[in-house]
Amino acid sequence: MRILFVGDVFGSAGRRILREHLPHVISERGAELVIVNGENAAGGFGITPAIAEDLFDLGAHVLTTGNHVWDKREIIEYMQSMPEDSHQRPRRLLRPANFVAGTPGYGVYEGELPSGQAYAVIDLQGRVFMSASDDPFRTADALLQKIRATVIVVDIHAEATSEKIALGWYLDGRVTAVLGTHTHVPTADDRVLPGGTAYQTDVGMTGPYDSVIGVEKELVLQRFLTNLPGKFEAAKGDPRMAATLIECDGRTGRAISTQRLWLGE
Ligand SMILES: [Fe+2]
Ligand SMILES: [Fe+2]
Repeated sequence: MRILFVGDVFGSAGRRILREHLPHVISERGAELVIVNGENAAGGFGITPAIAEDLFDLGAHVLTTGNHVWDKREIIEYMQSMPEDSHQRPRRLLRPANFVAGTPGYGVYEGELPSGQAYAVIDLQGRVFMSASDDPFRTADALLQKIRATVIVVDIHAEATSEKIALGWYLDGRVTAVLGTHTHVPTADDRVLPGGTAYQTDVGMTGPYDSVIGVEKELVLQRFLTNLPGKFEAAKGDPRMAATLIECDGRTGRAISTQRLWLGE
């Protein structure tokens, strides 16, 4: 089976390029399971219920997030609107599973495709150069004890390449894919590890590349040059969709191949 994973959708430019490409990529590439990281979909900061619904309408089965998940506060109520055993859309919008206990929402989703293929998606956040969270390695261990599906995709939302690569090796042979998000730059290291886990350090941003990781470059430059506070605005120019397609054996969950996609206007 084929899994399409779309990296951080950033602002209106990211949503527009996603709308342009996602439907035809799904049909042309035969993607059965579609996962989209939507943490920056609303103006670069967070995600709203309406935008989550739009991403589901475009073909996403599961939405992952990261450190920006709560930037739009109304998403908390949306994520809490369904019980844990629900399969409705709000239940398929995840926040990192290793956020501290008592955090709203869920960090793992187990579902079934129309074909009957079972799958699971785990959202994790790194701890290096990021705000405090529980151990993503041990959290993954605990979740894998309970998951029954063989096809398992992990979004590791983290800053440090070393931490992501370490998690890839740690989970090699236990999950179908470990795919990095958060740094908004696609890395060329996509591959299948010896145990059968597809790995990539960062899938890249689906958003405006005439920017500094999505934000208007002049505003970021001012911040670096002066340290003065200023509002960050999402850039618009040079939008691209960054995604990775994974072919795997649906029965064993082992990855067979990976392919990076980077589509512009
Ligand atoms: Fe992001
Ligand atoms: Fe992030």
